[in-house]
Amino acid sequence: MHLKYSFFILCAAFMVGCNESAVTEESPEGTQPYTALRSVAPFPVGVAVQSGRLGAAVHSGVVRTVFNSVTAEYEMKMQHLTDASGNFIWSPADALIAFAKEHDMQIHGHTLVWHQSTPAWLANFGGTDAEFEDAVRDYITTVVTRYKEDVVSWDVINEAFEDGTGALRNSVFRRRMGPDYIARLFQYTRAADPDVLLFYNDYGTIWDAAKRDSMFAMVDDLQSRGIPIDGIGLQMHITHTFPALQNIVEVMDAMVQRGLKIHISEMDVRVNPEGDLLVLTDARSQLQKKRVSEIAAAFMDLPEEYRFAITWWGLRDPESWLIDFWGNPEWGLLFNAEYQPKPAYEGFLEALTGRG
Ligand code: G3I
Repeated sequence: MHLKYSFFILCAAFMVGCNESAVTEESPEGTQPYTALRSVAPFPVGVAVQSGRLGAAVHSGVVRTVFNSVTAEYEMKMQHLTDASGNFIWSPADALIAFAKEHDMQIHGHTLVWHQSTPAWLANFGGTDAEFEDAVRDYITTVVTRYKEDVVSWDVINEAFEDGTGALRNSVFRRRMGPDYIARLFQYTRAADPDVLLFYNDYGTIWDAAKRDSMFAMVDDLQSRGIPIDGIGLQMHITHTFPALQNIVEVMDAMVQRGLKIHISEMDVRVNPEGDLLVLTDARSQLQKKRVSEIAAAFMDLPEEYRFAITWWGLRDPESWLIDFWGNPEWGLLFNAEYQPKPAYEGFLEALTGRG
């Protein structure tokens, strides 16, 4: 690592590490002065975290100073809370929760059931379908009970519908518990914690009409049957040009009409979807700022009781899942590699404070 750069990181880590107060109006010491989002936002502003990254003082310093909500990027998923045999591995999730509690941060649970995070002990379950469902219910009950005093909300299930068709994904949960399994997942979670907020979380429900229609049909069905659901996670993995703001607003309005809290749950804004950039240009950075500002302003326009939180899916550009997933250089988050806020951060602040 370049000597100057490592010296900067060392200073920043030292200064931030010395910054004892959990929340300050100013930036962590040793970095450019900027206002902490958590000090001005009228709703929780979150970030996806990994326990390993929080070990770096400058990383954890920025996280705890700037944000007041956390989501485990992967360590509270089935595949990481249990080993291949179904034994629980609590320590990484416990560490994340301890960090959040120490710094007065809300904790959003992500996610109880996700077809992409199905552990071997369930994928290869040898018992009957009834025993499979008992195992799923016991898993939910164990996890939700353990974190009952700490986790305010859970993504009960993530990404249950197919892209393009809106059909229920043919997951092991769908196959072994039947087409009404989602309803029972919500019931089991509510039974484990009468107070926790229950969310359905997905991507693409702004531009994929079939998936959106299936999601709302599910919500309408659950609500008609008195089965609890409190909110929807709009993941908001978008680009600097797509989807149109109007489409985002229309979908959020449809959620408000159903009395659903809205969590922009995994926000990042790709600025290089065509792969035409090798470095982040100021022009593209300004477009990202405008995009962030307009979406945050639309969220601010929602009635207060429906604004659950806005959560960013990572802290710094180089740490984003986007880079490996799309295979292009990407700068989708609020902070650059040097932990400095980007113009997108200023755009977010402007919307939160009405200065935009
Ligand atoms: O860092 C550990 C390593 O120490 C360990 O040896 C290894 C063992 O598997 O795991 C490594 O962690 C990986 C982690 O990313 C950090 O890179 C996990 O394997 C890997 O599964 C994890 O991928 C996450 C993915 O979900 C699957 O859980 C991504 O970080 C995360 O950004 C991504 O997030 C999803 C949301 O949950 C749902 N919406 C889509 C979003 C993007 O795919």
